[in-house]
Parts: sequence; structure tokens; C-alpha cells
Amino acid sequence: MEMKRIVVLSGAGISAESGVRTFRDNNGLWNNYRIEEVASPQAWLNNMDLVLEFYNQRRKQLYEVEPNPAHYALVDLEQHFDVQIITQNVDDLHERAGSSNVLHLHGELKKVRSTVDPDLVCELDGWELKKGDQCEKGSQLRPHIVWFGEAVPEIIPAAELSVSADIFIVIGTSLLVYPAAGLIHYVAEGAPKYLIDPNASDSFSVSNLKVIKEKAGTSVPVLVQNLINAR
Ligand code: APR
Repeated sequence: MEMKRIVVLSGAGISAESGVRTFRDNNGLWNNYRIEEVASPQAWLNNMDLVLEFYNQRRKQLYEVEPNPAHYALVDLEQHFDVQIITQNVDDLHERAGSSNVLHLHGELKKVRSTVDPDLVCELDGWELKKGDQCEKGSQLRPHIVWFGEAVPEIIPAAELSVSADIFIVIGTSLLVYPAAGLIHYVAEGAPKYLIDPNASDSFSVSNLKVIKEKAGTSVPVLVQNLINAR
């Protein structure tokens, strides 16, 4: 029998209980910085040191955190479903938990790329990217992150995955950043949809949607068990 496909869209909230700060919550990362100050092409041109430092700190922290029960539950789901994860997160906690199919919409902290050739992407050794670190073509390396105002190259495969979902699960995202926030509208009307977020809005008009206002670490394992039992 063919496995049903579950597509997951995750955001910063799934990693919150691992100790990774979200962007927009109280105490979120964007409380300390103006977004344009660190996550834009202008910032890179005007204040490269700050941008490098910001992502170096994020990258360094990756070595101090671990996946949590929400990440692991999605791995268990693979025994019974074709699980495809679309994540807005630039951490590697889905991969470290053991998920097989992870599409990073907004890039990856552990990767860096050339500023002259966007196809020249490589893994960074360690956590620190410095001014003067160059790609093989001799230009400065930059974080492999999709900044505000930049294109989201993976949005087309992500939309295709969303169209093909039998079940769609959204976890821990404020759904304020497009195009990611629009993916749920590609999902078939009849497909069951779940939204797990303690601060989820009630005024979300999507067919067949169940909103679960709880933290990911406790509610994702429960939802996963229910989906496996109901299979
Ligand atoms: N479990 C589930 N959800 C949680 C938890 C938790 N333990 N803690 C917080 N949340 C929720 C918050 O309620 C919020 O809705 O996670 C969401 C985090 O929202 P944002 O900080 O806006 O993060 P995200 O939606 O991933 O941001 C999208 O914006 O800054 C850019 O590129 C960056 O990928 C990021 C994008």
C-alpha cells in the first residue's frame, strides 16, 4: 500500500524548546535588532561586521543545542508516512533528529556561499565566518541565508510539495513572512490541516484546519501518535 504523504511546514517555534530563540516573540531576536540591520542585502553592504557577527553567534549556538521531542516525533512519523519537511529554520535540528527529507526555504546556518556566484555553496568548517574568507573564485563568502528582499529559490519545490500533501502540519511559525506563509493555500481543500502554535490566531480561514494552541514539544508527539493510530 502506498504511504500517505504528510507535509510539515516548520518555523522558529519548533526549535524554541531546544533553546533557539524565535524572531518575533517577546524576547525574540528581532527585539534586539532591527531586521534590516542584520538580515538584508543593504546591511551586508553597510555593516558587514555586524551581519557576520550576528550569524556567527547563531551558528555557534547550534553546537550548544539539541533536537527536542517535536523534531524526534516527526522522525517516528516516517515509519508510517511519506514525510516531507519544509522548514523556514536555518538550524539543522530536523536533520540531527534524523528526518530524511528537509527542504530549507530560508537557507542554512552551516553553509556559506560566494558573493559572485550563488551556485558556489559550501559547508563552513566550525562556526566562524570572517571578513576576508573567500570562495574559490576569490570573492568574500556570505551566510547562505535568504535575507529580506531576496528571492526564495526553494519556494517552487515547496509549493509543489504542498499541492501533493494528503495531510499538512504547520508548527511554530507566526505566518507573517511570505511566500512561506502562503504555502498552506496550495494544499488540497479536503486535506486535513493542523496548526500547532501556543499563540495561533483564531481568525485563520483555511478549510479542514485544526488549531492546537500548545507548545510543539508536548503536542507534536501526541499528534504524531494520533495520526499513526488513525492510519
Ligand atoms: N512551540 C510551538 N510554537 C512556539 C513555541 C513552542 N514552544 N514557542 C513559540 N512558538 C511560536 C510563536 O507563538 C510564534 O508564532 O513560534 C512562532 C515563531 O514566530 P517567528 O518568531 O515569527 O518565527 P518564524 O515564523 O519562523 O519566522 C519566519 O522570518 O525572521 C524571518 O527568516 C526568518 O525564517 C524566519 C521567518
